Amino acid sequence: RAARDPHRPGFHFVSPAGWMNDPNGLVQRDGWYHLFYQYNPLAPVHSRIHWGHARSRDLVHWEHLPIALAPSDGPDVDGCWSGVFVDDGGVPTLVYSGRAGEVELACVATGSDDLVEWRKDPANPVIAAPPSDVDVTAYRDHCVWSETDAAGRRRWRQIVGSGIRGVGGTALLYESDDLRSWRYLGPLLVGDAANAPRTSPEWTGTMWECVDLFRVDGTDALVFSAWDEGVTHHPLYWTGRYAGDAFAPDALHRLDLGGRFFYAPQSMRDESGRRVLFGWMQEGRPDAAAVAAGWSGVMSLPRVVTARADGSLHQAPAPEIDVLRTEVLFDGAPTAALAQVATSPIRGDQLDLELVTPVADGERIEIAVRATEDGAERTVYVLERVDGALHFSLGRSGSSLDPETDTRPLGGEIPSDSPTAAVHVRIVVDHSALEAFVDGVPLAARVYPTRADALGVTVTGTSAAARLRAWRMAGAR
Ligand code: FRU
Repeated sequence: RAARDPHRPGFHFVSPAGWMNDPNGLVQRDGWYHLFYQYNPLAPVHSRIHWGHARSRDLVHWEHLPIALAPSDGPDVDGCWSGVFVDDGGVPTLVYSGRAGEVELACVATGSDDLVEWRKDPANPVIAAPPSDVDVTAYRDHCVWSETDAAGRRRWRQIVGSGIRGVGGTALLYESDDLRSWRYLGPLLVGDAANAPRTSPEWTGTMWECVDLFRVDGTDALVFSAWDEGVTHHPLYWTGRYAGDAFAPDALHRLDLGGRFFYAPQSMRDESGRRVLFGWMQEGRPDAAAVAAGWSGVMSLPRVVTARADGSLHQAPAPEIDVLRTEVLFDGAPTAALAQVATSPIRGDQLDLELVTPVADGERIEIAVRATEDGAERTVYVLERVDGALHFSLGRSGSSLDPETDTRPLGGEIPSDSPTAAVHVRIVVDHSALEAFVDGVPLAARVYPTRADALGVTVTGTSAAARLRAWRMAGAR
């Protein structure tokens, strides 16, 4: 049933069926990339969550493996929630949130060498309760790493996502020698739930889900997903400096202009030293539609994260994805033929577009995808410069004739150092899953055109200096 759904992607990772949310336990080991994920194999709804598992040699073709963790009597009886992989002196180890009732606590499991079989630690939960001096709004999700202290001793550190009631989201810092006994050190950083209105794309929420701390090109980033009272909002990150037991923030940024369509991301450092990030592209159609389709949730493409010139993060699809570019549909300066679906040579529901173009003040470039010839359905990217500032948005009001789907506009400002430099736009179309990148700033979204002929692509508003390349993308299954 799932395989016949026209909204199911052809080269984004999806679970075999059922429900998928967050990426978990990311690691590359002996050449194999492992992707675990929050999974309900029984139905496409968020219920008793397992850990699904897949592996890949190239980040493109994935092999499904047996379920890695399933809820069982004890601290994870109601779900094995998000967590990470660590290599404990050669022993594959997962640190995850076991859920029992309404409570999540840190649990540990150790695995076979091929990461297929996992054994839960009898001592679970390894942290028995949230810190007694913190009135937490919620408490779950883990980022674990090892570092050497001033005395030259190796030790484990972890942050747990949380929030302090009446104050804001936080990441609580712990230390351990053995991943089993943890000492609470205090909050690494505390957010302010009054930093912006609740509806603002920069609101930091009352709790931080899926905290992820890493350094890339000399920048420290603390990524989190802003959450409030059962509602997921959007991923954000602080840039700043992690030193001692604290993170000193410089600036707050949106991780993806698609907000909730790139939620609960997690990253890993791969064997070649790259920082690779995945996020959950949740549905924009009603639960009942997902139930009828038999599946829910798309994993983003793997994104390589580097630093932009201004110190914020630059994201781009891993170059491995380029092997799927089968047929060149366009290569050159955009022509008049591209203005109309009827004459445009670019057509399809699996496409990769790359546009390099200057965007002068007052200029407005439109790229429509998943468009019908009569315009009844079309999804429109707009890139424009207004008073020097570069804006990128996605209009979804005409994306689907199905009134039940989410068609709210998405977008925001693209920080740019030079108004005259060419802007790099990449748009990847994969059925209902869309990922765009403008100068390394992403915008993920889901759209659900109803018509089988909603395949057109048009490009308007570019100058003669623009260069466009477009490819048909092969499927990865
Ligand atoms: C984020 C999240 C995590 C939690 C998991 C449960 O989407 O809510 O905080 O661990 O999903 O599936």
